[in-house]
Amino acid sequence: MAYSDKLMDHYENPRNVGTLEKDDESVGTGMVGAPACGDVMKLQIKVNEDGVIEDAKFKTYGCGSAIASSSLVTEWVKGKTVDEAAQIRNTQIAEELALPPVKIHCSVLAEDAIKAAVEDYKSKH
Ligand code: FES
Ligand code: FES
Repeated sequence: MAYSDKLMDHYENPRNVGTLEKDDESVGTGMVGAPACGDVMKLQIKVNEDGVIEDAKFKTYGCGSAIASSSLVTEWVKGKTVDEAAQIRNTQIAEELALPPVKIHCSVLAEDAIKAAVEDYKSKH
């Protein structure tokens, strides 16, 4: 299977790997699992007073496409409002990384993770 350069770049040099303080009220945490393969993704956002995401971190226990998808999403959400971030679609991720069909669910995981992080943030406010 041939993977795109962008995917390989995010896989080999993942952006924003790490953890934010989950009890901080400015932080939203999304933790999701993929039933198809058992991979797990944790994605966190730190939101400022204007509702804008100023930082994002992830930890993904999963395949290269899941790591690349979460890395890409942490880059995309920075500077977005939480509502804008919740609009990100897995199809955009899959297109950007040129994911092959069997890896589409990896991008779904990233969409679900950012949505869950936004939900968690909102539940605190
Ligand atoms: Fe192997 Fe996801 S199926 S890492
Ligand atoms: Fe399951 Fe990528 S998240 S194979």
